[in-house]
Amino acid sequence: MADPKEEKPVKYTVHQFPAVSQDNPEYGRSATWVQAVSHGFHQHRRDDEYLAKTLAAYQADQRELTGVYVSGGVPEHSLGAEVPVATYATMRKPLNIGFGRQLEANLVTAVTVRGTHRRQGILRGMISADLEAAKDAGLAVAALTASEGTIYGRFGFGVATFECSIKVDTGPRFRLRGLPEGHVEVADPAVLLDIAPKIFERVQRATPGSIGRQEYYRLLASGSIGHDGKPDLAVRCALHYDHSGTPDGYVSYRFKGWDAKPFTMEIVDLVAGNDAAYLDLWRFLGSIDLIDVVTWAEAPVNDPLAWALEDPRCIEDSDVRDMLWLRILDVPAALAARQYPVTGRLVLQVSDTLGLAGGTWELESDAGAGATVRDASGQDPDLVLDIADLASAYLGAVSPVTLAAAGRISERRPGAAFAAQQMFAVERPAHCLTHF
Ligand SMILES: CC(C)(COP(=O)(O)OP(=O)(O)OC[C@H]1O[C@@H](n2cnc3c(N)ncnc32)[C@H](O)[C@@H]1OP(=O)(O)O)[C@@H](O)C(=O)NCCC(=O)NCCS
Repeated sequence: MADPKEEKPVKYTVHQFPAVSQDNPEYGRSATWVQAVSHGFHQHRRDDEYLAKTLAAYQADQRELTGVYVSGGVPEHSLGAEVPVATYATMRKPLNIGFGRQLEANLVTAVTVRGTHRRQGILRGMISADLEAAKDAGLAVAALTASEGTIYGRFGFGVATFECSIKVDTGPRFRLRGLPEGHVEVADPAVLLDIAPKIFERVQRATPGSIGRQEYYRLLASGSIGHDGKPDLAVRCALHYDHSGTPDGYVSYRFKGWDAKPFTMEIVDLVAGNDAAYLDLWRFLGSIDLIDVVTWAEAPVNDPLAWALEDPRCIEDSDVRDMLWLRILDVPAALAARQYPVTGRLVLQVSDTLGLAGGTWELESDAGAGATVRDASGQDPDLVLDIADLASAYLGAVSPVTLAAAGRISERRPGAAFAAQQMFAVERPAHCLTHF
């Protein structure tokens, strides 16, 4: 097992511990760890309120924290030896893998290595050890969101969903086809503390690529915590009700101020449990007086809004980017967990430089509920691919045909990449609304 302790026996010590809240005697260690993460991402030093709220939320998520510490003393006046030089955290949440199926995923977050200790293999040690441990614990996938596109491919992660930023002109051009199917009312954002998780659960059940949300989201959506840890009093919210009067969607949003022109409403969180709720919430956003544009930084790349607008040019999208990165830890388990919408048979030869999940497997689907996965060592493969490319194809968001055209997948049987594209398709475009 790769371990920074083994790679640098005299220099570093690795500690793994659960995140704990203020009432725990080990709180100081967790708080120092959070300060190190803020340092790694160039954020402000955190005050007591931020630390207490953040760690209470981390404890609710059962986050496991890893800190790498300098052993043998640090120079006088530098940060103390109790401040980790590297951080890493994990939690477990369900991933929707299509057709309503959920697969528990090891979510990796808070990856930082202090600049003065970088490029010595610390990240490689932490991530290799963690992926191996997650596999040993029986998990078939790991996931993360990446600050840079060049870091995680080497560890077998592939981009599995995308998102983009949109700016919607809500002036007179803004008109949606059709009629509302429910109704929208403004609410006190505090109600989201209770109902946001229930509404999100609908999204989680219905959306391939969706990841179960961490505690932080209901705090963010309700304005209980802003990015600085203080309550965000600018946050407002509206709820969508279905025909029976049950809330099935919400949007929380904030006005960017009278000094910023055009007058802009920024979406903090938009969670719609069904298509009608999504469009009705946009109808509401488009109807807010005194506002010229509505912006959203987490929009789906296949956005039904564009097709619902009478003038699709009301939407300006930009910054299409990778969002969820997946790492398959156990190929037969991950393949068997999926539902395939078409009949097909593929022999996949998968390479894995970390030595965790490589091999050759035959996948056979009759388009029914179950698929058969068999060891096919020694058989001629239809597709030869890296574990990262299988991750990209897994939620149907990246076509194996595209990956073959890019020279990443080698197609050994003509048509196999197209067959894989059809087999890995999901019932609606994959989108992940959960950053972590
Ligand atoms: C990214 C970061 C965690 C890397 O940590 P590190 O300990 O220096 O990484 P390692 O020494 O273990 O390097 C592992 C491999 O990744 C490569 N690598 C590391 N950071 C990279 C980067 N930013 N871009 C491209 N490659 C990178 C290394 O070259 C090395 O490659 P190799 O093993 O094939 O030779 C660290 O630079 C950092 O904290 N950056 C700021 C915060 C951040 O971006 N975190 C990621 C959040 S998702």
